[in-house]
Amino acid sequence: MKLGVNIDHIATLRNARGGIEPSIIEAAKIALKENILALTMHLREDRRHIKDEDLYEVKKLGAKINLEMAATEEIQKIALDLKPYSVCIVPERRQEITTEGGLDVAGQKEYLKEYIKPLKNAGILVSMFIDAHPAQVEASSYIGADYIEMHTGCFTHAFEKGDFENELEKLKSAAKLAQSLGLKVNAGHGLNYENVYLMKEIEGLCELNIGHSIISKAVFDGLQASIKKMLELIK
Ligand code: PXP
Repeated sequence: MKLGVNIDHIATLRNARGGIEPSIIEAAKIALKENILALTMHLREDRRHIKDEDLYEVKKLGAKINLEMAATEEIQKIALDLKPYSVCIVPERRQEITTEGGLDVAGQKEYLKEYIKPLKNAGILVSMFIDAHPAQVEASSYIGADYIEMHTGCFTHAFEKGDFENELEKLKSAAKLAQSLGLKVNAGHGLNYENVYLMKEIEGLCELNIGHSIISKAVFDGLQASIKKMLELIK
């Protein structure tokens, strides 16, 4: 199973001050020292974290980018110009804090089938971020996606309540159905040190995309060192 590291939260922190710190490039360089598959970056319509230029700067490092994007004309143009390794089509509402729930592929099959054609023709792998629901899996196959990424939000909420079996079963059977239809299967959202081991129970899972928990843990793994450094500098 491979890992895609979502670095959006570095950009969120940077944008809080409107400056250049923490640098998305430094974050990308550190992540790329490890054996990861890709850097995942979500270019939201309101550019609240990742900015267009971040994508191009990170691409210059030679990184494989997994671009999370809404199915809009504007972002499609950017994707075709950037040519990331893969795109993951996500639903997007301005007011949401993070991507809540999967994309309704079944409800817009014909639109998405046409929408992803130029991306596929450009050699970009196309993934659909969906809930673990048979109708969404079948629709993703119908439109010609290469991958599905199963939204693990319901599973992670259930895990917090200590009653995750049902949600895990849904993920397992959606993955099986997808694989039987020739789709590759990824997963992500809300995965953390505590719950991620259960993803190993889903057979044939290719990739996990994880952001919030990795960046959150990094704060505490690095906090002591940065306080020590500042004390040294003001001695
Ligand atoms: N995959 C997709 C499609 C997402 O939208 C997100 C959230 O940005 C993630 C994975 C990562 O979720 P988290 O930040 O909770 O690890």
